[in-house]
Amino acid sequence: MDVMKAEKVSFGYGSHKILQNLNFEMNNNQVIGLFGDSGSGKSTLCKILTGFITDYEGEVTVNGQKHNGGYNPIQLIYQHPEKVMNPRWKMKDVLEESWMPDEKILNEFGIKKEWFKRYPSELSGGELQRFSILRALNPKTKFIIADEISTMLDAVTQVQIWESLLTVARENNVGVLLVSHDKRLINRISDEMVYLSDITD
Ligand SMILES: Nc1ncnc2c1ncn2[C@@H]1O[C@H](COP(=O)(O)OP(=O)(O)O)[C@@H](O)[C@H]1O
Ligand SMILES: [Mg+2]
Repeated sequence: MDVMKAEKVSFGYGSHKILQNLNFEMNNNQVIGLFGDSGSGKSTLCKILTGFITDYEGEVTVNGQKHNGGYNPIQLIYQHPEKVMNPRWKMKDVLEESWMPDEKILNEFGIKKEWFKRYPSELSGGELQRFSILRALNPKTKFIIADEISTMLDAVTQVQIWESLLTVARENNVGVLLVSHDKRLINRISDEMVYLSDITD
């Protein structure tokens, strides 16, 4: 079993304190929903967990190890996939930079082969988000942090994307932290809901 832990994590932007003594733990067989109001620091925590913010106090570990370069076993999926894709790369290259999933996984996500030849601007938000989820599902990933990843999608696409993500994550023993301001979504999808306010001082 893999365990992700955040211990005594505190962080602020300058003097603006955002997280104060946060403690959180989950394992790779769990799908946990993290709820917090808008502006409460959810995205900030996501960046800390996945190594995009490094100047925080406390510790983030996977199986007791801090991330020290190399592939990060904790991967972030953003709300806006287009912002983290090179607009000049075709989708095949965007995906392959991480890895190339087999047919079964591509089918699970409803990825069409013709999309591989297109640029990010030539796909819909939902189609792009499928690619960004697949990128994050690299076999070296142990935990996925999904930060409001379906907020901008229509209801049908939202359901499809979550079903695909959870199917593949469970099959491969990847833990999922679903971060959202939407309690109904969290209730529907996750095993357990955690309040950001309850895991900080
Ligand atoms: N790069 C930044 N510099 C300064 N303040 C920031 C920055 N990013 C976010 N904040 C502030 O930190 C607080 C928490 O933001 P965020 O983590 O994005 O919250 P959430 O994702 O829960 O809506 C907000 O008040 C936001 O304005
Ligand atoms: Mg946010």
